[in-house]
This record gives sequence, C-alpha cells and structure tokens, in this order.
Amino acid sequence: MRINKYLADCGVASRRKCDELILQGKVKVNNKVTRELGLDIKPTDVVLFENRVVRPNIRRVYYKLHKPKGYVTTASDEKGRKTVVELMRKVQERVYPIGRLDYDTEGLLILTNDGDITNILTHPKNLVKKTYIASIEGEISPQDIKQISKGVDIGGYITQPCSAQIVEKDEKFTRVEIVISEGKNHQVKKMFEAVGKNVAFLKRVSIGEIKLGGLSRGEYKALTTKEIAYLKSLQK
Ligand code: URA
Repeated sequence: MRINKYLADCGVASRRKCDELILQGKVKVNNKVTRELGLDIKPTDVVLFENRVVRPNIRRVYYKLHKPKGYVTTASDEKGRKTVVELMRKVQERVYPIGRLDYDTEGLLILTNDGDITNILTHPKNLVKKTYIASIEGEISPQDIKQISKGVDIGGYITQPCSAQIVEKDEKFTRVEIVISEGKNHQVKKMFEAVGKNVAFLKRVSIGEIKLGGLSRGEYKALTTKEIAYLKSLQK
C-alpha cells in the first residue's frame, strides 16, 4: 500500500497532508527516515510517525465538535496553546480535525481517523458548502454584501461567487450568514476586509448538511450513521 494511504488509514492526516509530513522527515519506515512519496508499505514494515508506531485503525470514528474560541485546530501547538484534540480526551482513537478554524473562530469541526473522509471533504472538486455567521463591527451596505457574493480580491485571489445575507442587526454588530465552498486561509475575514469591514466574531454553523445544532462550546458527539453516509456520498 502506498505510504500516504497507509498513514491516512492510520489516522495521521489526509493523504495530501501526509505527503507533506513525509517530505518534512517526520516518517520512518523500519527505523529509517523516508522522504519517498511513492514508497510501497509491505505488511511486515514498521511505520513510525513522530517516532510512534502507527498501524491502520480498524474502527473508524467520526465526531462533531463545537470548537470554542482560544483553541488551535492542530494536534499540537509550538506556542503551547490549547488544542481541539485535548477536548476529545475521552475518545480512545487518535482523531484529527478536518480542515481548520482560526484560533479565535468557534463552531463546527469534524474530527475523524478516516483519511478517506478527510480527502473527500478537503478536495476542492467536491465543493462542500460551509456556512458561517460573521459578526461585523457596525453596519455593512447591501452593495458590499453584493460585492462579497460576486467575488472579492483577497490578496491576489478572487473568491468564487457565494451566498451572503444579513440576518440580524443590533447597535454594535451586523450578523451576516455567508456560505462558501472554498477554504483559503482566513477566507471569510479577508472577504469582509476586502470591502473595508472587520469581522469581530466568526462562527461556523454547518458543513454541507452536517449542522452544529445544539452542541454547546467544547461539547462533542459522534456523527449519526446518516451523517456518516452523507459525508461518504459527497465524493464526486
Ligand atoms: N474563514 C476565516 O476567516 N476563519 C476561519 O476560521 C474560517 C473561515
């Protein structure tokens, strides 16, 4: 089996991410660092990731988590900040998050040890829609909303058309629901910045048909069989 698939099956990360980890020298086969992306892993080989033996998991698990602000979406953080994986301590399997939310963003995150699902959800061709509620400081004009929906320049990249609409307003903030299929770094914040607006607070409320629902901050629960089947069905 190709090394990146083997690692993904072990729950290390998506196949593409595993290629990066291999190139970074974090993977050893039979105690020797390998940077060979096409390497074929035989049943007798011992594979180590960050010096720990990894073997493909038999049991695949899938969770949704309400990520609170103040947590990083990685398994470890060089600055010692809290990680979303720490919130999943009671889960025995090694799970990892699909995609990222910023440190100060909250909301829906899916975590799994199934590399195939990660590939499906992160591959641009599958166009999975993610819905966010962005709280904008002050007001935002219908023209700006229209501009954001048509596409804006976020540092040399023009965003794809998307849906955006004002859902609520108070004295301080305007809340905008925005649905995007792309996943550039800090994309939502940058889209509002492109029209001169600051996102004070950002929350992801759904990924395709998977909803955050009533989960409270820091709470997680296993996806239902129906939700898992839905994720699998997204592959184009
Ligand atoms: N867009 C952002 O700007 N931040 C996130 O965390 C997710 C999408």
